[in-house]
Amino acid sequence: MGVDKKILVIPGDGIGQEVTTWGRKVLETIATNYKHNFTFEEGIMGHVAIEATGNPLPDETLDKARKSDAILFGAIGHAKYDNDPTLKVRPEQGLLKIRKELGLYANLRPIKLFDELLEASSIKPEILRGADILFFRELTGDVYFGEKKRTEDRNTASDLMIYHKYEVERIARKAFEAARTRRKKLCSVDKANVLEASRLWREVVQALEKEYTDVEVEHMFIDNAAMQLVKDPKRFDVVVTGNLFGDILTDEASQIAGSMGMLASASVGDSVGFYEPIHGSAHDIAGKGIANPLASILSAALMLDISFGLKNESLRVIKAVEATLKQGFRTMDIANKHTENHLVMGTDAMGAKVLENLS
Ligand code: NAD
Ligand code: IPM
Ligand code: MN
Repeated sequence: MGVDKKILVIPGDGIGQEVTTWGRKVLETIATNYKHNFTFEEGIMGHVAIEATGNPLPDETLDKARKSDAILFGAIGHAKYDNDPTLKVRPEQGLLKIRKELGLYANLRPIKLFDELLEASSIKPEILRGADILFFRELTGDVYFGEKKRTEDRNTASDLMIYHKYEVERIARKAFEAARTRRKKLCSVDKANVLEASRLWREVVQALEKEYTDVEVEHMFIDNAAMQLVKDPKRFDVVVTGNLFGDILTDEASQIAGSMGMLASASVGDSVGFYEPIHGSAHDIAGKGIANPLASILSAALMLDISFGLKNESLRVIKAVEATLKQGFRTMDIANKHTENHLVMGTDAMGAKVLENLS
């Protein structure tokens, strides 16, 4: 028996629009092949929404999100705002608001290298082979949501780094539970030697260790973690960290998977699941049709598994991506000196290859 699911697609800005087409097509193909009934709606967010309504997250999009079973998101952002920090209404506000409103406090970012991409990374293959890390990035707290201030003379500014015990506890529990199903290792990353918010973080994780005695816990400072990640990525299994540290570490960790264009994520919490690549709208390549669609496609795979419990279908998508890479097909971000010219392709050709391999 197939399942009935309502999916909201929010392509957003820049390459978000180009890649999300393929995440959606993959979901459509899975629905056909496995006789599921997925219905799709679209919503606007980010720069496109500001242009259309003046609001980066129109109420209509938020309403649709609340009524859906899962959300497939692309990316938001536009050079206009990046180049003018004085603009008050900004695309990123839409993304932060939807995360907060939907209670999406846990952002899962799996870092898994397809063997075919060993040569695509800037890190040596022997360091990378076998790396498999699952990040739990806290997503609705930290400096992102603490009080922001600017003095009247505009010369001084501050962002409050704030965490409550319950916020640390709920994300840490998710990370501990995940570690139990994997290699039973958890690394909690903070800056407890300097920050009070991090000392709370560490206290809360340490208290939980007593409940999860089967999980081996390591506490690491963020500066060291950033270094260990490229020195020896295989030492990590599950990593749990705050919003800001998690943002930075996972962009760094994308090099373990070969490219930003490979990393998918799932944000979960109080209700609906939200699926998105970790990358942004990529002004430098937007509109050129060369962005890697695999992060969006792999985000769709996470949706099938986590929100819909469709493990086989999810695995089928991952296998189709793997088969496409095995055939030698590459977007330019994951090509290397050994990739032949005719196998380097744009977004649409790459997406189409994955669909062929799905069928
Ligand atoms: P970015 O992630 O957009 O791009 C960083 C680099 O990675 C660029 O060189 C880009 O070309 C490359 N890249 C990213 N995705 C790729 C893909 N699928 N295929 C090939 N190459 C890819 O980060 P940025 O340049 O710092 O930010 C650009 C804009 O995106 C900003 O406005 C920022 O605020 C926004 N942003 C949004 C999100 C999001 O919506 N979740 C995430 C990050 C950044
Ligand atoms: C991400 C992005 C966002 C973040 C920005 C665009 C608000 O970098 O999803 O990783 O910092 O969370
Ligand atoms: Mn980021």
